[in-house]
Amino acid sequence: MLPDPARIEEAAALLNAGELVAFPTETVYGLGADARNPAAVARIFAAKGRPASHPLIVHVSGLAAAKEWIAELPDAAKRLAEAFWPGPLTLVLPKAAGVSAGVTGGQPTVALRAPAHPVARALLAAFGGGIAAPSANRYGRISPTRAADVREELGDRVALILDGGDCEVGLESTIVACIGGGVTLLRPGAISRSQLRDIVGEVADADAASPRAPGRDRSHYAPGTPVSLVVAARLRAEVERGLARGGRIAVLARSAAPVASDRLVWRRLAEKPAEYGRSLYAALRELDRAGAARILVEAVPGDEPWAAIADRLRRAAAQAVDGAVTDAT
Ligand code: TXA
Ligand code: MG
Repeated sequence: MLPDPARIEEAAALLNAGELVAFPTETVYGLGADARNPAAVARIFAAKGRPASHPLIVHVSGLAAAKEWIAELPDAAKRLAEAFWPGPLTLVLPKAAGVSAGVTGGQPTVALRAPAHPVARALLAAFGGGIAAPSANRYGRISPTRAADVREELGDRVALILDGGDCEVGLESTIVACIGGGVTLLRPGAISRSQLRDIVGEVADADAASPRAPGRDRSHYAPGTPVSLVVAARLRAEVERGLARGGRIAVLARSAAPVASDRLVWRRLAEKPAEYGRSLYAALRELDRAGAARILVEAVPGDEPWAAIADRLRRAAAQAVDGAVTDAT
């Protein structure tokens, strides 16, 4: 979907006035504010109901614009930006003096991403500055991948929603920290670990010493209905057991329904990870509305192309295991 110049100008004017604008990116929709305006940034947290300690991603047009937000550009970060920007990669880097604590969550680092979606790029060009934006959902809920999802999540808490159609990737960006000479994968996404390795060699896993990224916490990205992950071989038995108990059962699978029942809501997604990832969040929203006691999700393969999907499914299911949301952005 191409940007409408008049809407883009309106959106840029709203950002300049300190208002919130939701906009499409190729990953998920973002809830944007002028990253240089602390009062505007504070409105993001109020609209989402998100704790203020959670840092935001600053969206920029590219590497040149990124430089004003950082204290230094490690060589690995430069090469990653050159390879994958604009695109679904966020870099966590030492922040420049003057980047507000509202953006960084009080950390010494700042997260930066140059999105590829033409509407996001047009907005960045019209606005001219950095746009701080988390995913445009309320705290603890699934990221929106369609303009209608943003409306459902935020309603009139946002001044304007730019409609850019369905997000092509459908999962949040890969987050990589380039700090202290190391490269650490903080959140898997469409840019895979081997793609990162091809550019920078070694890529470490996040550990206790890594920069805090609340999106890594277990119960992130959860629908309201409890989610259980089920291996393919057990799916039929679990469905039959659920139906025998009464009530409705919702299922997200890559196979066809093994049994028919008017109490069974079965959503089949693609065999290919890129297509599966694109429709995952919309499918979970749909199943969340099915009035089922539980959403059963057929486990996905363990290999690299499925890594980001497996990560989000684990987090969605963690809520059911824990019985409470511990953290989410
Ligand atoms: O694809 C995306 O990344 C989307 C689109 C809108 O760009 N944004 C997104 O934002 O997913 P959000 O806020 O929902 O998730 C951003 C993640 C959070 O887990 C946050 O903790 C982490 O980025 N993050 C931000 N700044 C950070 C920093 N300085 N150090 C470590 N993690 C950081
Ligand atoms: Mg989020």
